[in-house]
Amino acid sequence: MAWITKNSATMRVERRAEPYLTDAMRRTLRERIMPRYETSMAALLPALHIVQHEHGWVPQQAMLEIAEALDIAPADVYDTASFYEEYWLKPKGEHVVAVCRSIACEFCGHEKLTQAVKDKLGIDVGETTDDGRFTLIELECLGSCGTAPVALIDEQLQENLTPEQLLKKLDEL
Ligand code: FES
Repeated sequence: MAWITKNSATMRVERRAEPYLTDAMRRTLRERIMPRYETSMAALLPALHIVQHEHGWVPQQAMLEIAEALDIAPADVYDTASFYEEYWLKPKGEHVVAVCRSIACEFCGHEKLTQAVKDKLGIDVGETTDDGRFTLIELECLGSCGTAPVALIDEQLQENLTPEQLLKKLDEL
């Protein structure tokens, strides 16, 4: 969960001339997604997914564009996007290392995995290296408790990991 306590009413939204929500994406929303739901608010999660799938993250300008396309309040889009860990509210690195921090992995040494990556890359959890190559995050249970500790590297599950194995995989990237 990612509650963000910021004064969004006075937040400055960085804009670019080209919209994030392209005509093709608007058409997909209108013709394929919105008809599946009773309210346009219900189409918000898939709309955020469309943007993230295309751009890798959900910029604030895109949230405004989604709000306009769905005819809902921008605050509702921001509330939703910032609530779910699934959505990236800032650009992520070329490679994402996601270490599971839930109980089975915690018992099996997830902290050593996270620490090894932090030491190697010089970043903290939630940060991206200056060259934009790696982002480190921690996630809740990845559904592979029997092979803990586990991590995702670019969405590929890595099981029974040791810090050495994890660092080797990063070297291979
Ligand atoms: S606790 Fe890590 S996969 Fe379930």
